[in-house]
Amino acid sequence: MPDSASRTLHTQVAIVGAGPAGLLLAALLHKAGIDSVVVERQSRDYVLSRIRAGILEQTSVDTIVQAGVGARLMAEGIVHPGVDIVAGGHKRHLDMHRLVGRQVMAYGQTELTRDLMDAREATDRPTLYEAQDVRIEGLLDSAVQVHGVDPQGAFTVHAEWVAGCDGFHGVARRSIPAEVLHTFERVYPFGWLGVLADVPPASPHAVVYAQSDEGFALCSMRSMTRSRYYVQCPLTDRVEDWSDDRFWAALLPRLDPQTAAAVVTGPSIEKSIAPLRSFVAEPMRHGRLFLAGDAAHIVPPTGAKGLNLAVADVRLLAEALIDRCRSGSATGIDSYSQRALQRIWRVERFSWWATTLLHRFPDTDAFSQRLQRAELDELFGSERAQAHFADQYAGLPI
Ligand code: APR
Ligand code: PHB
Repeated sequence: MPDSASRTLHTQVAIVGAGPAGLLLAALLHKAGIDSVVVERQSRDYVLSRIRAGILEQTSVDTIVQAGVGARLMAEGIVHPGVDIVAGGHKRHLDMHRLVGRQVMAYGQTELTRDLMDAREATDRPTLYEAQDVRIEGLLDSAVQVHGVDPQGAFTVHAEWVAGCDGFHGVARRSIPAEVLHTFERVYPFGWLGVLADVPPASPHAVVYAQSDEGFALCSMRSMTRSRYYVQCPLTDRVEDWSDDRFWAALLPRLDPQTAAAVVTGPSIEKSIAPLRSFVAEPMRHGRLFLAGDAAHIVPPTGAKGLNLAVADVRLLAEALIDRCRSGSATGIDSYSQRALQRIWRVERFSWWATTLLHRFPDTDAFSQRLQRAELDELFGSERAQAHFADQYAGLPI
């Protein structure tokens, strides 16, 4: 295609990735009168077909409402005032609302993404879906360009700033020179097999986290008629190895008798295996590029923190960019990476700790099992330990 056919777009902030991080940033900026163009590799339908997390901290809910995108969340989200933890077939309840005065809300990431896409479309500002070969240039220059090819042809977005919200496999983090970027990683020796089913949830007001000799299991929900369950599985397993019957048969013995009796089984409408990983990239800024969400960090899902971390990054980044664009103040953008990372590492620690506490590692011996049991006794033996857990689970301040 000749160069003249290439479209040119101008904006203040180019956003790479239309997941929750990218779309929420676009909404917060729009509300403050700051223009953005969003560039997404996949189609809208593909993005909406991905089944992801489902628990929102109060600060995430507040941020979504503040962005003007919270109407359906407030109407349909289901409040969870506590969490349940099962060990050795015995369930204990941790009442976050009583302990720290905060709670979380069950609302699927897919639904949140749909709300954000609808809000974006209502602004008439462009989201370029199915954008291939996306490249970011000019990070250290006086302006930045995002190039790509979408179904209408080649395009270049000229912007003052670029937000890399393109997930773990995106292009933004890879645009930072190797000598600048430091990465930290831990890969866990198991995965989570997740099943979505149109059955009422076993535990409609608390996620159930279960530690057992057969491995970890989790009961969650998307609505009063849609449930999400997980079991820990070996990394070598494939989805085809797991019939629905095998899944339900693996789940039930890992739970306490009361929760197991409340599980309504039914055909799965989605089934997938996700590896567990901890990952952090530092710094989260290089020149005109800022990373946010999965592009910069991954947590294992045990603490339900992935989506909430993305929201927290975006809130900080939106405030920083709004300050810069409105008043020229660079204080926010200059401290973004350091402030975001300080919180991220605390959440990484909690997610790693919860994963270590609740899973069965392939090399777990009797000694390690006793230590896990003792650690749970520590948690449930002390109000202060429970309040500390509740504080982290319900979400650190941004
Ligand atoms: N160009 C444009 N878009 C891209 C590119 C690229 N080269 N690479 C990836 N993307 C898109 C992906 O298709 C995806 O839609 O970036 C988007 C990133 O979205 P997410 O992976 O959902 O990441 P994020 O918005 O940071 O949300 C974090 O997602 O994975 C979960 O646990 C995580 O819940 C957390 C949330
Ligand atoms: C989910 O609902 O998918 C979910 C809930 C809690 C977690 C992880 C996933 O810790």
